[in-house]
Amino acid sequence: MAKLLSASALAQYHRDGFYVPIRVLSREEAAGCRRRLETYEAERGGAIGGELRHKTHLLFTWLDRLVRHPRILDAVEDVLGPNLLCWSSSFFIKEANDAAYVSWHQDATYWGLSQPDVVTAWLAFTDATVENGAMRMVPGSHVAQVAHRDTFAPTNLLSRGQEIAVEVDEAKAVDILLEAGSMSLHHVLMFHSSPPNRSADRRIGYAIRYIPTYVRQVAGDGDSALLVRGVDEYHHFEPEEPPVTDLAPDAVARHAEIMKRQAEILYRGTGIDRFTK
Ligand code: NI
Repeated sequence: MAKLLSASALAQYHRDGFYVPIRVLSREEAAGCRRRLETYEAERGGAIGGELRHKTHLLFTWLDRLVRHPRILDAVEDVLGPNLLCWSSSFFIKEANDAAYVSWHQDATYWGLSQPDVVTAWLAFTDATVENGAMRMVPGSHVAQVAHRDTFAPTNLLSRGQEIAVEVDEAKAVDILLEAGSMSLHHVLMFHSSPPNRSADRRIGYAIRYIPTYVRQVAGDGDSALLVRGVDEYHHFEPEEPPVTDLAPDAVARHAEIMKRQAEILYRGTGIDRFTK
């Protein structure tokens, strides 16, 4: 019995590789998330970036609550089953009139996970529109891994500037439009990209990556994840701990260690040893 997704929504996810939209937060709650993020950015004197952009839920209690939000977990459970780890999360922020973009890629390419049972919940803190660079996806493209090449393009928001090395039929792509507080779900093999933000306001999204406990990391040692629902009977990942308070010193130290290990996996073979964006 599904918890949140209807039978047709689930069938659509499996057929297309994504499902959209699912309401998680009210507009007011989403605005509250944006405010918390921007309060922190004002304190640190700039947009969140580098390794702080990733696994940020291990640093802030409000993001820890968000990655455990029952509506997100209910939808993800409908796809992946009852025992869920949050493997990662990343902010995808495009400033107003910003050249930053995301090339066509499949998330699975460098993640090193043993099988493609991985769902991204992409939660919009602001509306995601055609003008501000909403994600685009090619329905049904999630059936096989294809070759990628690294470009390391500076305005590409992806770690290696990686892009799909075969032709992508962009005519078939659809825009993933979201209201603030809604999310899309997408499969780890989905072909997706997003163009620059041509609007006068920031576009803020928080991408949360979930796996069932039976998935393994096969590209390196010491990967870790946060149990967010059910039980972990496999122990394939080092257990992560939530922060007790925002930016608690022990949580900040643990996060730095975790990001070092994750960079070793995601940047393997490049000579880069830490998150640069
Ligand atoms: Ni992606």
